[in-house]
Amino acid sequence: MRPEPAGVYRSAIDEERFGIRVARVGWMTREILPEALRYCRDEGVSLLMAKCMGTERRTVHAMEQAGFLLMETMLCLAADLRGPLPAKPDSMRVRPFRSDDRAEILRLAASCFRGYESHYHADERLDGSKCDEIQVDWARRACDSREVADEVLVAECEGSLGGYFILKRNSSEEADVAVAAVVQDQRGTGVYEALVVHSMHWAAAGGAKRITGLVQATNVAVQRTPMKLGWVPRYAYFTFHKWFD
Ligand SMILES: CC(C)(COP(=O)(O)OP(=O)(O)OC[C@H]1O[C@@H](n2cnc3c(N)ncnc32)[C@H](O)[C@@H]1OP(=O)(O)O)[C@@H](O)C(=O)NCCC(=O)NCCS
Repeated sequence: MRPEPAGVYRSAIDEERFGIRVARVGWMTREILPEALRYCRDEGVSLLMAKCMGTERRTVHAMEQAGFLLMETMLCLAADLRGPLPAKPDSMRVRPFRSDDRAEILRLAASCFRGYESHYHADERLDGSKCDEIQVDWARRACDSREVADEVLVAECEGSLGGYFILKRNSSEEADVAVAAVVQDQRGTGVYEALVVHSMHWAAAGGAKRITGLVQATNVAVQRTPMKLGWVPRYAYFTFHKWFD
């Protein structure tokens, strides 16, 4: 599981992007909820974003009663890396990104995630063009900082890039596909499968026993290929937003 700060906290990156006061709760519980609401009122927060495990039904109901709106339902898919891994497809070259790929990766991020149904895009009160910048910014930071990504893999397709994966180690045992993208005209051609398989090999080579990926329950296209390659659901969670005005 990706590491999260405990409790409620102000989100500098969201505040800078949207120009309002934004707070977050990594994992909401009934115990944290009253404190989080008090904190937001005391700090003059406009928007609180909070994730809540699907199993926390009473917390979900308490959040609904407090005026939170559901923005997305997420699934964690995971693959066990301790057995034999699927073979890397011969037909596709996947490799770690180089600095001269950076501009193309940012272009891919912009085109693949324009209007993407993230919890940001699902919130009608947030500016859609600013939501579109999130994945471009993430790709930029992933290329520039080992704190954001441990690797960015790219797939080569006839002299250009067909897709990229942002990879992160969650712990010594677990690696994570943080972002997966295949450019529109290369979808359905095996680029995605090649990136999934290479990400499994990359994680196993780094000593991980498991690789995970967070996917939206509604995004069927991202789930099918990993599931065919042995990835299975691990847990589900919801992302809620609450506005304070
Ligand atoms: C998600 C993504 C990487 C998948 O790449 P892809 O090349 O389309 O994937 P594949 O060809 O391996 O498989 C797609 C599967 O989903 C199916 N599919 C595609 N769109 C679908 C839709 N809207 N509804 C249902 N199924 C769909 C395809 O038929 C295929 O299934 P099949 O293999 O059983 O025939 C690509 O669509 C993408 O970049 N999307 C935008 C960014 C994104 O959503 N990223 C994931 C979150 S980080």
